[in-house]
Amino acid sequence: MKNKILKILKENNNFISGEYLSELFGVTRAAIWKSIKQLENEGYVIESRTKIGYKLISLPDRLYSSEIKELIPKSNTIGNNIIYFEELDSTNNYAKNLPISEINEGNVVVTEYQNKGRGRLNRVWVSPKYKDIKFSLILKPNISFQNIGHLTILFALAVCEAIEKYMGMTFEIKWPNDILFGGKKICGILTEISGEIDNIQFVVVGTGINVNTTQDDFNEELKDKITSLKIIAGKNINRVALFAQVLNSIEKYYMNYNFDNFNEILMEYKNKLTIMNQDIDINLGNDTLVGYVLDIMPNGSLKVRLKSGEIREFISGEVSIRSKSY
Ligand code: BTN
Repeated sequence: MKNKILKILKENNNFISGEYLSELFGVTRAAIWKSIKQLENEGYVIESRTKIGYKLISLPDRLYSSEIKELIPKSNTIGNNIIYFEELDSTNNYAKNLPISEINEGNVVVTEYQNKGRGRLNRVWVSPKYKDIKFSLILKPNISFQNIGHLTILFALAVCEAIEKYMGMTFEIKWPNDILFGGKKICGILTEISGEIDNIQFVVVGTGINVNTTQDDFNEELKDKITSLKIIAGKNINRVALFAQVLNSIEKYYMNYNFDNFNEILMEYKNKLTIMNQDIDINLGNDTLVGYVLDIMPNGSLKVRLKSGEIREFISGEVSIRSKSY
């Protein structure tokens, strides 16, 4: 009933009387009042006037499934089912441990806070409660293991496009799928595969976007490496609208994925990359190599001429542009 009341309040700009609602739903006015209190506890601001009724004043800044789903077409696969949590260890962990019956293409797990958020290369991913966007998407792609890098590219482009549309600005991509603004990171993506090399069962793509974090939220070590959309825009960002835009953009890129015409996507990706033809360090977790970026290969790997002259392709790793050439 709570959600039905919310729907009516949303559709009307005026006060709706408790009497009308109680008649409509065949319940007491006290029951209506209880639902209104529940909505207020969820963060909806509702003005109550005795003898007049209730009016919705504002929506909560929460990534509730019901709010997001209002902004994505019903026919979409991505985000058709969104599971929301106030707190989790990590959305990727939660998604990976779901019973197999709930591992469905397009399911999304989103949370306001992760107490064990994970980044690439075994790093931690820290993000304050209610400020950013942290979600994982479950996919069952029809893709061979050799081309799993295509997913990385599709996601980088999709998330980047959504952010660009929302912000009305251009962002950069750092191979494989960090999104940057002015050289500072605003989004990271962690892709994890479940199954065997020749039989991918499902893929979990975890995305963290720095949305409404401020400079004070960043620790000293990261302050000059990362930024947030709020810092860039100079004002608070509507997380619900942005998140819906991200899911809609993933729908567009992922559902239209076609191995045979991936070349076009690859060109689009290369145009957004900051590291083409640059001297780089590539951190492989246990080793860091120095080289020069030659190209991105059709499977998404990075082709580098190492300092030794050897030419190698990397499917993962973390690159940084060298201030001095070698
Ligand atoms: C990176 O190191 O750049 C990748 C960061 C990925 C963070 C996201 S937040 C949601 C999802 N859950 C996690 O534990 N990590 C990913």
